[in-house]
Amino acid sequence: MTKKTILITGGAGFIGSHVVKLFVNKYPDYKIVNLDKLTYAGNLENLTDIENAPNYEFVKGDIVDDSFVFELFSKYQFDGVVHLAAESHVDRSIANPNEFIKTNIVGTVNLLNAARNIWNDNLTGKLFYHISTDEVYGSLGDEGLFIEETSYDPRSPYSASKASSDHLVRAYFHTFKLPIVITNCSNNYGPNQFPEKLVPLAINNIKKNVPIPIYGKGENIRDWLFVEDHANAIDLVFHKGNVGETYNIGGNNEWTNISLIHALCKIMDEKLGREKGESEQLITFVKDRAGHDLRYAIDSSKIQNELGWEPSLQFEEGLDKTVDWYLANSEWLEHILSGDYEKYYEDQYNKR
Ligand code: NAD
Ligand code: DAU
Repeated sequence: MTKKTILITGGAGFIGSHVVKLFVNKYPDYKIVNLDKLTYAGNLENLTDIENAPNYEFVKGDIVDDSFVFELFSKYQFDGVVHLAAESHVDRSIANPNEFIKTNIVGTVNLLNAARNIWNDNLTGKLFYHISTDEVYGSLGDEGLFIEETSYDPRSPYSASKASSDHLVRAYFHTFKLPIVITNCSNNYGPNQFPEKLVPLAINNIKKNVPIPIYGKGENIRDWLFVEDHANAIDLVFHKGNVGETYNIGGNNEWTNISLIHALCKIMDEKLGREKGESEQLITFVKDRAGHDLRYAIDSSKIQNELGWEPSLQFEEGLDKTVDWYLANSEWLEHILSGDYEKYYEDQYNKR
């Protein structure tokens, strides 16, 4: 195997930590450098399994700081970049868009500039891999799926900032010949997800016997994918994806929010030894999210046909594993809940 030094940004976050663990364990000859600012969403407890691995190094830093990013690239001379660092929560982007512009747009440009600077014309074997979201495509009606050619139509400050970063990554490919690849993935769920997102928030609230807030009527649809399936897709695209291409990644697994929560309540009743239907009593409809996209659904046939990727888990199985993980890792959850989370929860939900 070729020795390579790979930068993974945002590796202390939800998806990033699964990608870091996969790469560190699967590629002992790679040196994996995890750059993360450790915002509220970054958590080194996600990485305890591999923190002492000889091929792993953690660097705390901010991708918005251009001179720091340049120095980092000069020091490590990365062969590849897997860029996941971002502000990722739609509700926070509605409350405060500015951090999203800084990290998701300016931060991405800083990384692109640094890669361009060190790689120069020596581009063989180099790759800048940008991780993006299906939200850049906007909102679907009852029919249809997002394909790679779907026009961009972002509708929240979060998705607009991700769309902007995708455009910049493509611009560096066309203008400067920077070797890039982009993937746009649907909603992930699984272990280590910060409990501001629907699935872990609901698991935590059910466990604590407090209301489960459902925006609007719960009829919005998302296409759910187990996080390890996303990490496997990222590994595949990083090694086999064609430069300049975009690949959509999704679970072919559409659920309305309300039916997802019903499924979760059923699992939790069984695991917590509650009466059948008990946890459903916690469902509480609250004021809708501003500009709430109705439906996301991904056509992932390109990555399936060209690279042979496919999701491995059925949703109920993945949800079951996820609930088990949260119940077994209450210390991980409690550390988060004892931080700034309480204030966030007050601001986000008690005004609704
Ligand atoms: P997350 O919020 O859990 O983690 C983001 C990580 O980035 C954190 O560790 C945080 O500390 C770090 N970070 C934030 N700002 C930074 C900065 N300025 N400098 C350095 N590090 C910084 O996010 P996630 O859900 O794991 O998402 C990871 C990526 O995948 C994002 O780019 C997101 O847009 C994309 N994505 C997420 C999903 C999903 O369902 N969660 C789906 C598709 C795509
Ligand atoms: O589609 C990919 C995107 O999925 C990623 O790019 C984002 O980073 C990720 O956060 C996620 O965005 P969503 O907005 O779809 O995820 P979230 O978990 O916030 O919400 C899922 C659905 O549940 C959405 O329709 C809003 C709804 N919801 C969410 C919360 C937090 C509720 O009804 N109540 C809630 O309390």
